[in-house]
Amino acid sequence: MTHRQIHLGLLAQPHGDHPACWLKSSAPLDAATNIDYYRSVAQLAEQGLFDLFFIADTPATRTDNLHVHSRNPEYNNRFEPITLLSALAGTTKHIGLGATASTSFYEPYNIARLFASLDHLSHGRAGWNIVTSANDYAARNYGLDKLPPHDERYVKAREFYQVVESLWDTWEDDAFLYDQESVTYYDPGKYHITDHNGKYFKVYGGLNIRRTPQGRPVIIQAGSSETGKNFAAETAEVVFASDPTLEAGKKFYKDLKGRMAQFGRDQSELKIMAGLSVMVGESEAEAQDKYQELQRLIHPDVGRMRLSADLETDLSALPLDEPVPVEMIPAKANFHQAYFNQIAGLIREQKLTLRQLYASYERGKVTLCGTANQITDHMMEWMESDAADGFMMSFHVVPDDLSDFITHVVPEMQRRGIYRTEYTGSTLRENLGLARPVNRHSR
Ligand SMILES: Cc1cc2nc3c(=O)[nH]c(=O)nc-3n(C[C@H](O)[C@H](O)[C@H](O)COP(=O)(O)O)c2cc1C
Repeated sequence: MTHRQIHLGLLAQPHGDHPACWLKSSAPLDAATNIDYYRSVAQLAEQGLFDLFFIADTPATRTDNLHVHSRNPEYNNRFEPITLLSALAGTTKHIGLGATASTSFYEPYNIARLFASLDHLSHGRAGWNIVTSANDYAARNYGLDKLPPHDERYVKAREFYQVVESLWDTWEDDAFLYDQESVTYYDPGKYHITDHNGKYFKVYGGLNIRRTPQGRPVIIQAGSSETGKNFAAETAEVVFASDPTLEAGKKFYKDLKGRMAQFGRDQSELKIMAGLSVMVGESEAEAQDKYQELQRLIHPDVGRMRLSADLETDLSALPLDEPVPVEMIPAKANFHQAYFNQIAGLIREQKLTLRQLYASYERGKVTLCGTANQITDHMMEWMESDAADGFMMSFHVVPDDLSDFITHVVPEMQRRGIYRTEYTGSTLRENLGLARPVNRHSR
């Protein structure tokens, strides 16, 4: 029997995904701005035959509470993602290279051009994660005091995407003739101007680079609000899901794929990758011990700060060892709806103290501590229950936990016939099983 194949992405954070990862004695302390280190991690993920190496981003530092943020390497020191991936394009061969770029701060022409270039530089491995951004730190770097309201950001994102998609079709695939004899570099009949005059953007022109190896880079999204899901159903080819349980995962999968028909799309045109963080051990107990050791390293300031940001309310005055009052939960989220709901649920249902809450809260994913067999079982169950087409993996400590996963879990997945033993495609689309889009002017 042939099983559905698991697709894997790596949410690549320099030291790892855990708020205390950089405190391990083995941590590569300068990792955030060390290109040699990033190269080694991307190459390691490629050895593990991952589909995608992905860089998340917000174009901002934290500007307040620096005494708290200074305990956490996450935000204030990082590479610009597309520049970083351009450097990695030359030192990797197969793995997809995805990055976040925000429709709230860029112009469509910039994005179309940057990702088209990355797709060429990587011979067809680029992916763009469309976000509308979710904090005011970034807004203040771009002439705004705060982000526009949630749904309005999505209206703008949709128009942004339409312009970018049109620019990527500027040139038909066979437009460039390079014909020395007739002195014809390109066929002007296969060049198409974008003439857009919309609510947010005005663009008249064409993209100054030929159509890309993938036709257009892979479109990624990770929103989970109603507006976010509708936008994804219309446009996304990969969605990062962040549901903590199998039931919630199944519901999200069915809901999102079910919305695609109204946009004339087939469900196979979208791969849903569930967030998953794993800690591998010889036994479940060993994996748990490794995880708990890290949890104990979380500084209380950092624990509080992460919760306050995602719950969109200041928890700094609350005592650590008393339950968080339900009244502290704001009426609604304006930033990350899924993260907000996860914390609100833990407060309402489990009545956790602040200390327990920050030690239990996993941002948009599930941490699974177990043996290679248990982790493979879990992944198979999600795949077979139609809760995921693959997993967006994050590892608490990089490179150690990534390396353990590749050494122990990948061979087990391969033994069960649910994971590739070599790359079969040459582009990210091919590896994900996504069709190359036909240029709208060639149809
Ligand atoms: C794996 C993953 C990666 C994400 N990366 C980013 C990112 O790099 N930048 C960002 O602003 N939001 C990021 N997000 C957040 C979502 O893209 C989305 O913008 C957010 O959830 C708000 O949308 P919603 O209200 O529709 O849920 C990420 C979410 C997930 C699950």
